[in-house]
Amino acid sequence: MIATIHSIADVWDAYRLELDGIDDRVRKNLDSSVTLVNTVAAHILNSGGKRIRPLLLMLSARLCGYTGWEHHQLGSLIEFIHTATLLHDDVVDDADIRRGRRSARKVWGNQISILVGDYLYSKAMCQVVEFRSQGINEVLAEACKKMAEGEVLQLYYNGNPAMPEIDYIKIVEHKTAGLIAASCRMGAILANASEAQQDALFRFGQNLGIAFQVADDTLDYTANGTNLGKTLGQDLRQGKATLPLLHLLHHCSETDRQMIKDRMETRTLTEQDLARLIHLMEDYGSIAYALNRASTYVAAAKRDLSLFEDSTAKRALSVAADYMVTRDR
Ligand code: IPE
Ligand code: IPE
Ligand code: MG
Ligand code: MG
Repeated sequence: MIATIHSIADVWDAYRLELDGIDDRVRKNLDSSVTLVNTVAAHILNSGGKRIRPLLLMLSARLCGYTGWEHHQLGSLIEFIHTATLLHDDVVDDADIRRGRRSARKVWGNQISILVGDYLYSKAMCQVVEFRSQGINEVLAEACKKMAEGEVLQLYYNGNPAMPEIDYIKIVEHKTAGLIAASCRMGAILANASEAQQDALFRFGQNLGIAFQVADDTLDYTANGTNLGKTLGQDLRQGKATLPLLHLLHHCSETDRQMIKDRMETRTLTEQDLARLIHLMEDYGSIAYALNRASTYVAAAKRDLSLFEDSTAKRALSVAADYMVTRDR
């Protein structure tokens, strides 16, 4: 029987035991003999992440008929890698708040934050090789490589309001979609799914990942800061042009364009500036444009699910796909 799943809350409910199993592995894998490593890692790991990547891994595995439990361990390792990227990202982005609390770099400093990020990457790799799966090793290593490339390309364009949209998408594909796509393919690999199914789930994750980051970039302007658990306006404040801003830059007046350029260059953005920008983005349809683009990627992702028979997991994946764009944190 297919469970009734209408919202992401239904997905969390239907798979609560699975998600608890993954979190259990997260705790067990934090076993460094250097206590400070565990303290810093626990600070961020236990602060309420959405666990989207392990969720997608698990649902992909179940979609392909997997009945085992190894995805608990693999899901926890993907969360380690994701956490490592956040520790590094908050240093690169000068972020003081993450998941509603002081970022690790704010509490312990940039050096510790970078090194514990390195630890989590390495720890994940040490444990992943125990799966003795060439497919899993390859897909994960490739995703990690792509993430670094995406972050570097993003830095290359820092402060540049003339970044072409195609390069924005390339950044997003690399820094965010790669790991989400890898999570979906690894679920299929665990289930010994066919190449065609693996490829379909990889593409599904790739499209979802792009939608996920475009939504994140929109939330940076529109979210309720408390809900989001991050500082609003941080992208522009750090010289980062994202899709809603690129759209605005193409449509606003020369005066406003100069104001935006100035804030990107000087890395200053007051609350009044932010309010004005949001107002302009609403006026010119920049928010709607970005969310529409994100929805297009979600629709493309969902088409790849048609290869699979109806099941609770398929329903959950479809609902999770919609959540990429409707989420508020
Ligand atoms: C944040 O990822 C970084 C991005 C790729 C946008 P998430 O939004 O998945 O972060 P948590 O784990 O739920 O906090
Ligand atoms: C996410 O980009 C980059 C990673 C893949 C870690 P962001 O810089 O937008 O993520 P947040 O907004 O800080 O979570
Ligand atoms: Mg960031
Ligand atoms: Mg962001």
